[in-house]
Amino acid sequence: MTVVLRNEPLLSEASETLDPQNWDEIRAQGHRMLDDMLDYAANIRERPVWQPIPDQVRARFHAELPRTPCDVGEVYREFTDFVVPYATGNVHPGFMGWVHGGGTAVGMLAEMLAAGLNANLGGRDHIPIEVERQVVEWTRTMFGLPSGASGIFVTGTSMANLMAVLVARTSALGQSVRQRGVGDEGAVLTAYTSKAAHGCIAKAMDLAGFGSDALRCIEVDGFHRIDVAALRARIALDRDAGRKPFMVVGSVGTVDIGAIDDLVALSALCREEGLWFHVDGAYGALGILSPTLAPRLAGIENADSIALDFHKWGQVPYDAGFLIVRDGQQHRDTFATPAAYLRRETRGLAAGSSWPCELGPDLSRGFRALKTWFTLKTYGTEKLGAIITRTCALAGYLEARILAEPRLELLAPVQLNIVCFRYRAADANKVNGDIVIDVQESGIAAPSTTVLDGRLAIRAAIVNHRTDICDIDALISAVLEFGAQRSGGGEGPVVEVERSPPLAM
Ligand SMILES: Cc1ncc(COP(=O)(O)O)c(C=O)c1O
Repeated sequence: MTVVLRNEPLLSEASETLDPQNWDEIRAQGHRMLDDMLDYAANIRERPVWQPIPDQVRARFHAELPRTPCDVGEVYREFTDFVVPYATGNVHPGFMGWVHGGGTAVGMLAEMLAAGLNANLGGRDHIPIEVERQVVEWTRTMFGLPSGASGIFVTGTSMANLMAVLVARTSALGQSVRQRGVGDEGAVLTAYTSKAAHGCIAKAMDLAGFGSDALRCIEVDGFHRIDVAALRARIALDRDAGRKPFMVVGSVGTVDIGAIDDLVALSALCREEGLWFHVDGAYGALGILSPTLAPRLAGIENADSIALDFHKWGQVPYDAGFLIVRDGQQHRDTFATPAAYLRRETRGLAAGSSWPCELGPDLSRGFRALKTWFTLKTYGTEKLGAIITRTCALAGYLEARILAEPRLELLAPVQLNIVCFRYRAADANKVNGDIVIDVQESGIAAPSTTVLDGRLAIRAAIVNHRTDICDIDALISAVLEFGAQRSGGGEGPVVEVERSPPLAM
């Protein structure tokens, strides 16, 4: 059939779509990709954890906008040769920097299936949304929240914390805040967290229009737990000064050293003072799956909202952040925005209200729930909990190795899966900063740094389910070798620095 549109003939031709002309070819290509990525995970120990990016490789990613087609095999070759060898490295068991999950083959396959379905989880009546609702229900059960709680997948805990601040704001000021803005009443609202809390909470206060000064960062004890008496005193002081406290953010697993606030005390204080109780459980909240750690999270069941990442201790591939809110109606009151083009029906594709777009700022949403659903179903919470327990045991092993080694110094109590230490040296901050970069560049391990009381610490966060005793030993050996070299007290590293081979094709 030929239709003439603005003087150009419109032909009905399969070649005009983006589908392959030859499905067998793309199938073979796809199988190769799948085999390669499974090999990548299976043989990850043969690679350096991370390696510096040569200038000529970086330069390849400053190319012109491609205007003409290129064979997918060629594009894939660029991926294998220039992307894979220079990835973050968090699939590798030697990766201990920041707080990165390791991912799994199951999660990877689920991500491929999600892309195949290309589902949009903003709304409408389809089973992918039921999968997300299922994970919400499982998460609600995990934390002992009542029915009526609502939950939603988001990018990460930074976004989940921002959304929690917005729900708490709507709860404090009423729904009219959404039309009128925070106004004079909002200008006196104050929120509270500890000095050890993650920076994204101050950022959330900033983005929500309160300003980060409206967040009071309360003193912590020697274990980096919020000082509840100091918090109580600051709330009283603020009330006396005419401010309106509205929210407390407790931490489960502080980013520096893995401290867990006293959630029972915080929830009791919030109830007494009529404050919203939010928990930043970015990585620590899933500790609820570990029978050893769960008792330390007591009180989380009283939270008004919890932010967490399945992509950290849950090992789901990036990204899979999550927000759960005790009172689903308050959650919806914060984000639901009716629109004619989003009209709901009782049957047909526009049925199935309420839709996830009522629970956050996003309308278009990917199928993050699928890789989490696959992960929870395939491994079960007992196995995932055991992995979490094991990462903490490995942190304990690292702590013991540090305590037994006179050249090393432990800089903070090990409470969870994070170990902060340093090599003893005259100019310790400089030397330890260099050691961390040396270790990263060697490809042996990838710790990161933090600063505790002005002292630069080598920080090892053991999150990856693949990390084993040999990886802890390799980290210690590398730190000692580079430490000796950097402080002028020894030979250079005896470890061989290997470069990553390209993926087998
Ligand atoms: C305690 C804590 N809160 C919040 C965040 C931010 O989470 P995300 O990186 O998923 O946005 C992190 C990240 O490590 C964290 O450790």
